[in-house]
Amino acid sequence: MAVHEEGGSKTAEIAPAKGKLGVMVVGMGAVATTLIAGVEAVRKGLAKPIGSLTQMGTIRLGKRTDANSPLIRDFVPLASLDDIVFTGWDIFEDNVYEAAAHAKVLDNDHLAQIKPFLEAIKPMPAVFDQHYVKRLSGTHVKKGKHKCDLAMQVIADIQAFKKTVDRVVVLWAGSTEIFLEPTAVHQSIAAFEKGLVDNDPSIAPSQIYAYAALKEGVPFANGAPNLTVDLPVMVELSKLNGAPVTGKDFKTGQTFIKTVLAPAFKARMLGVAGWYSTNILGNRDGEVLDDPESFKTKEESKLGVLDYILQPELYPDLYKDLYHKVRINYYPPRGDNKEGWDNIDIFGWLGYPMQIKVDFLCRDSILAAPIALDLVLFLDLAARTPQLANLGFQEWLSFYWKSPQTAPGLYPEHDLFIQSMKLKNTLRHIMGEDLITHLGLEYYD
Ligand SMILES: NC(=O)c1ccc[n+]([C@@H]2O[C@H](COP(=O)([O-])OP(=O)(O)OC[C@H]3O[C@@H](n4cnc5c(N)ncnc54)[C@H](O)[C@@H]3O)[C@@H](O)[C@H]2O)c1
Repeated sequence: MAVHEEGGSKTAEIAPAKGKLGVMVVGMGAVATTLIAGVEAVRKGLAKPIGSLTQMGTIRLGKRTDANSPLIRDFVPLASLDDIVFTGWDIFEDNVYEAAAHAKVLDNDHLAQIKPFLEAIKPMPAVFDQHYVKRLSGTHVKKGKHKCDLAMQVIADIQAFKKTVDRVVVLWAGSTEIFLEPTAVHQSIAAFEKGLVDNDPSIAPSQIYAYAALKEGVPFANGAPNLTVDLPVMVELSKLNGAPVTGKDFKTGQTFIKTVLAPAFKARMLGVAGWYSTNILGNRDGEVLDDPESFKTKEESKLGVLDYILQPELYPDLYKDLYHKVRINYYPPRGDNKEGWDNIDIFGWLGYPMQIKVDFLCRDSILAAPIALDLVLFLDLAARTPQLANLGFQEWLSFYWKSPQTAPGLYPEHDLFIQSMKLKNTLRHIMGEDLITHLGLEYYD
């Protein structure tokens, strides 16, 4: 492996992004179809990739006086959008055009311009069990003697796709599964493989896809809050096969805003007495989350952020009694156009109370698609980067997640601006550039 010196630090060389990048999406619903249609629309020059850091973001190098801020995609060797090839799995047979029309995120005029491309992408049969997603019942589903047999079928799908492209990444954009906790079966590769043959109920379909991908040395991202890659077996496989993993639960609407506002209150030492968050949404995701067992998985993911950001153990006078509530209500008329309300009861000097109201009329999948694109491109970069490929969790991608994964014993960083700095400094680091600390004393020498 070649090593070169640049900017004072040694970096091992990153393999170039040569050839086609295959993206296999599990669950070709609202997020997946908005991602795929969006990438094609951008490739055809019909629209801009707004919201995507890899496509629109810049990165400052050196001092502010150097005026050197290249585009991220010109700075690190990312796959080009032109080289991405999509495929995936779903429990319904609809091709991507039909699924996108059903999801009603993009309007018909937009879809009509790329209809033949979308129609050509047809999902492969899925690994699915209604026990894990109560509100769905699918017809386009693999059959097998046991879970090991199903895993082997997914591995065969990945192997076949690998023959048509140069590199592969798998993204879970499937429905939220019921709340599960790790058990003995998740503690090692050997225990998990025995569990697959024994049909262990702690092994959900999402874990079968993750196992198959990591076994094949393919990076895996988990866009939903399920227990999927945050397990010792997956970390072991990931490190062993140099297949980076990242998750979980795309940070798109309400939690995105929460992880911007809460750090601001803490930075100014303002107290928070209560934070009430409620949502209405009417897409299939909303229908799935209407089931209490799937909602519990999402609730855990959404509730965690405030405790970590506000650190009540360090600031008991400000945050010890914080009352935090999160509600999601299924309301079909809104479709994918969610509305999220936050009522925040804060207090200031001498304890005087104040209130903040946020009403975010957002579009769920419009916010999620660019995140999904960035994750796929950055995971592929990580797999080609010697300093990142065998780390297991890619904590530098915390920026994109409601529940970022970390090494054992570390608390996750939820503050969006710490996450953004961590991501950009990781890119500087792997490229041998100086890190930016924002100290700035040198300008006053
Ligand atoms: N859109 C957002 O802002 C956002 C944010 C965070 C997380 N998420 C999560 O992303 C996921 C996708 O969201 P969406 O709005 O696209 O939902 P969706 O319901 O439109 O799409 C999910 C798709 O997954 C399929 N599916 C379910 N189980 C499957 C399996 N085992 N194998 C293959 N396919 C399967 C369903 O048939 C469906 O087509 C959800 O879990 C959601 O909670 C979305």
